[in-house]
Amino acid sequence: MKDEVKVALLGCGTVGTQVARLLGEQAEDFAARSGARLRLIGIAVRDASAPRDPAIDPALLTEDADSIIDQADIVIELIGGIEPARTYILRAFQAGASVVTGNKALLAEHGPELYEAAAEANVDLYYEAAVAGAIPVVYGLRESLAGDRITQILGIVNGTTNYILDEMTVAGLSFDEALKQAQELGFAEADPTADVDGLDAAAKCAILASLAFHTRVELSDVEVTGIREITAADIASATAAGYVIKLLANAKRHEDGIEVSVAPTLVPADHPLATVHGSFNAVVIEAEAADRLMFYGRGAGGAPTASAVLSDVVAAASHKVLGGNAPRELIYGDVPILPASKTRARHQLELVVVDQIGVLTEVTGVFARHGVSISAVAQSYGRGKKSDTCHLTVTTHEAQQNELDATLADLRESSFVTDIVRVIRVEEN
Ligand code: HSE
Repeated sequence: MKDEVKVALLGCGTVGTQVARLLGEQAEDFAARSGARLRLIGIAVRDASAPRDPAIDPALLTEDADSIIDQADIVIELIGGIEPARTYILRAFQAGASVVTGNKALLAEHGPELYEAAAEANVDLYYEAAVAGAIPVVYGLRESLAGDRITQILGIVNGTTNYILDEMTVAGLSFDEALKQAQELGFAEADPTADVDGLDAAAKCAILASLAFHTRVELSDVEVTGIREITAADIASATAAGYVIKLLANAKRHEDGIEVSVAPTLVPADHPLATVHGSFNAVVIEAEAADRLMFYGRGAGGAPTASAVLSDVVAAASHKVLGGNAPRELIYGDVPILPASKTRARHQLELVVVDQIGVLTEVTGVFARHGVSISAVAQSYGRGKKSDTCHLTVTTHEAQQNELDATLADLRESSFVTDIVRVIRVEEN
């Protein structure tokens, strides 16, 4: 039996630094839990002379990743991005090492290739840190819920956008002010467009959907809308109506397929996801037998993400010592992924209409003609000077996207509708 498991760390940023620190500080616990000492044999970085946290032993730093990969039992990949991360991981598998990664973009784009290479080499691929930081949602789906059927996952899986929307809602900050703060606090991606435009959440959504529905879901399958267009007026209107705007990742199984999307969504103020503040993440899982589960915690940051990485390291290490393997990719649920036009959701539309007799009949008639059922209509007037227009807020029941699009096209053509101020998804409790 092995008395030592050699660990190579690739990357020494916010998360890598914490992983190295905790590997040292909790060495006794990790040894007891995995059955052998975990020895950090090296940390691969781009510039070994750059200033580092005092927790990092300079003697471990190297600019030659290959040399430590080839000696390792476990490789922790925390450099992010597609290349050279992909090449390093494939090299690790060829060298017989298990891999722990937090790289959601790589998994969402090259997951099948990595899974196959891990299976061929009979080693583990673990990636708890790739989705929602410290929250054990990958484990939850792969193992804890292996005895159930998932019907929907709805989650706040990007801390930066949750922080921005929350600050805009609670503190009245502008989008730019809130983004700047998120960057200063260190949970935004190096390039915040991945956060703000929803791509980080979309990669996580693809990973969660693949696990939940045993179907390969790729990044390109996810319909993505980010939060760049959300204005202070949108936030104020949501608040006035008793809703909160959240960027939600949604993976839902319908009879004819699954839909996967990331979009700003109105959630009622008393919905469990509405109470998730700051950079916290939360994932609601609906399962047939278990019913609703909610996972809540820190989705980003050095130590929280290191916690997820290290849980994977302990699991992979115990397999190296005692035998066994991580769960393999289970793709057997041949469920089609619905095109955007066939997805179904409730929406809220704010229209500016001419304030005349018969306009309500005309406008609601457009919805009826396209088979879109209305659940509520509210009419309001702007404060101040008298106007010959008014605002109509129309909330729909669940409608197919192509029917909603046809409704919107006709509304744009209607001489009674002078503006479409907002169209936003709505989730109910
Ligand atoms: N930038 C990500 C977030 C970090 O804000 O959630 C973890 O993926």
